Amino acid sequence: MSKLYMTGQKRLSGDVQLQGAKNSALPLLAATVLAQGESVLYNCPQLSDTEASLRILRWLGCGAERCDGVVIVKNDGIARHDIPDSFMRQTRGSVLFLGAVLAKQGRVRLSLPGGCEIGQRPIDMHLKALRRLGAVIKERHGWLDCRAPHGLKGADIALPFPSVGATEEVLLAACTAEGVTTLTNAAREPEISDLADYLNRCGACIRGAGESVIRIEGVRALRSCAHAVIPDRIVAATLIACAAVTGSSITVKGVIHSHLSAVLPVFEDAGCTFSAKENELHMTAPARLHSMKIVRTMPYPGFPTDAQSPLLAAAAVADGTTVLIENIFENRYRHVAELTRMGADIKTEGKFAVIDGVPQLYGAAVEATDLRGAAALVVAGLCAEGKTELDGVKYLDRGYEHFEQVLTSLGADIKRI
Ligand code: EPZ
Repeated sequence: MSKLYMTGQKRLSGDVQLQGAKNSALPLLAATVLAQGESVLYNCPQLSDTEASLRILRWLGCGAERCDGVVIVKNDGIARHDIPDSFMRQTRGSVLFLGAVLAKQGRVRLSLPGGCEIGQRPIDMHLKALRRLGAVIKERHGWLDCRAPHGLKGADIALPFPSVGATEEVLLAACTAEGVTTLTNAAREPEISDLADYLNRCGACIRGAGESVIRIEGVRALRSCAHAVIPDRIVAATLIACAAVTGSSITVKGVIHSHLSAVLPVFEDAGCTFSAKENELHMTAPARLHSMKIVRTMPYPGFPTDAQSPLLAAAAVADGTTVLIENIFENRYRHVAELTRMGADIKTEGKFAVIDGVPQLYGAAVEATDLRGAAALVVAGLCAEGKTELDGVKYLDRGYEHFEQVLTSLGADIKRI
């Protein structure tokens, strides 16, 4: 089991190319099930989560090969409709194969995706939406057996919450359904628009992605195409947090500024300055951050929940008190105990975290228990005095591509052993 070893308080500098978005690549890989022929995904990050999706595609009968950041999926027909439990448990993105395989095969059998470290992660909204489209779903002993005996039919669907996964599930299931589907209270994340762009390029007819109301006119079949995955806005926010806590100036390349419209103002309040040029973002951090006052996580375009953990680590060394309100997941403060071992002064109560900034953190042996919590501990290790040993690197590898190499290229003292 590898660990990361960091020696903190090294100033970062230079520039870094932003990886493709994990939370876009996962629905896109599921969507290739719908597109007959050879789909090419550029800028597809190499992560344990994306590799798990490639394994599922191969199991289903597709060819799925990777050459660096390019993934080629050859889909000449899906041979199976069942996905083994072992595959389902490897990544949350696997639940998106539910809608895609059901739409393609008229049937799908898979195990309920496990909850994970940040919450119970139910999929009731996914299932209710698929039933509205005509799916017959039996849930038994943790298994889902879904059929669409008469095919899927367009319907009006209203989500009780703008769930990212449920929105993606509807796009995948409805784009080849018979008739029109109107989805209201849809998630507006950039990853939704990226999925709709790919599907439309394959011949789908999806209008309004990125807004709260999406209209999907079912088409008979989709043809494969080539598509570039959007950059990862959460990795960008994490790199910003790494530079913010080390008083650094860095440039992030390949960024889409509008995706960070809720993130940059928070770091500006903390004393960072940003300048944008085409698809580059240059930032300079102060010697010490001011507190971020109050930050609440919201569905896009609000402050993203996935950036809350790295932000919390930055707030731990800011001058003053920051209050974080986590409105999306019920258990997203698990890394706080580890930050406390490093000298942070943080109190959590339900969705609230009150962070009293300390002048500095101290290196310690810490353990990650979820993806963004691991990122938060890296942020803390980069600014702590002395050495930090991070266990649980497998969580980081789910969403950050070669992260220690990226940070080393910026001047950090970080090694994987
Ligand atoms: C996606 O998860 C992302 N994962 C998450 O990123 C991200 O935090 C989340 O969207 C919010 O932006 C992927 O895209 C693979 P939701 P998802 O459905 O789709 C509840 C990361 O760190 N809910 O918008 O699961 C749910 O429990 C990960 O990269 C239901 O109750 O998020 C949560 O409290 C973490 N029933 C809230 O809604 C449902 O049927 C938002 O979940 C679906 C969701």
